[in-house]
Amino acid sequence: MTVIAHISDLHVSKSDFNEEMFMKAVSEINGLQPDMIILTGDITGNGYYKEFKQATRYLAMFEPPLFAIPGNHDARNLGYQTFEELIGERSWKLTVGEDFTVIGLDSTTPDDNRGDIGRPQHLWLEHQLDECVVNENFSIVVLHHHIISIPQTGRERNVLSDSGDILKTLTTHEVDLVLSGHKHVPNIWKINKTLVVNAGSLCSEKLRGKNLNSYNVYNISEDEIKIYLHNVDGEKFLFGEYPRNKI
Ligand SMILES: [Fe+2]
Ligand SMILES: [Fe+2]
Repeated sequence: MTVIAHISDLHVSKSDFNEEMFMKAVSEINGLQPDMIILTGDITGNGYYKEFKQATRYLAMFEPPLFAIPGNHDARNLGYQTFEELIGERSWKLTVGEDFTVIGLDSTTPDDNRGDIGRPQHLWLEHQLDECVVNENFSIVVLHHHIISIPQTGRERNVLSDSGDILKTLTTHEVDLVLSGHKHVPNIWKINKTLVVNAGSLCSEKLRGKNLNSYNVYNISEDEIKIYLHNVDGEKFLFGEYPRNKI
């Protein structure tokens, strides 16, 4: 079984970032010993160099390998350059063993909250997913912005601007999991054979209503995917259970 922890929207900054909550989350996630941690952006509050420096010290506390893509807050104030310097590539492909592929996309535009993938990155994604289909890989696509509206998040503003085209590519290639953040609200949609899962905010005080800080854990076995929602320092429960796509 492969276990993935999905964290998002840390918002490391002088405001909104709850360090105590972050420290609790670190010890919980390290205790779970997942195979990897996926971080779907908004690592910082404003993309400031100082915030990224601070964030790298925090992220180093996680013991499992961690893979991140930027969020709209990270792309502010030249943060898209700082991300490359201190965190890593903004788009990437990771192959685990012979049958597991994770593709990270950069859905941000500098100093703009709106998200889009754009044609060059979309073509690259299609090429990578074609290979996943040929190799019969379990595929995960990771991006900050949500591609389908999330309930209980008010008026829709920042859904991926090219979401229709991206959704078509993801579903026709039967991508197994699409992981996003941005709205600070956990959610699962299943579109055809693709599970589209949002994570809440791990440790930011930017929360809606009674939403709590949380992260998702995916237990991926040969025949099913179990999604657990963990409230930081709180309740953990089964959020969804789905059969694996047959090859
Ligand atoms: Fe955020
Ligand atoms: Fe965001």
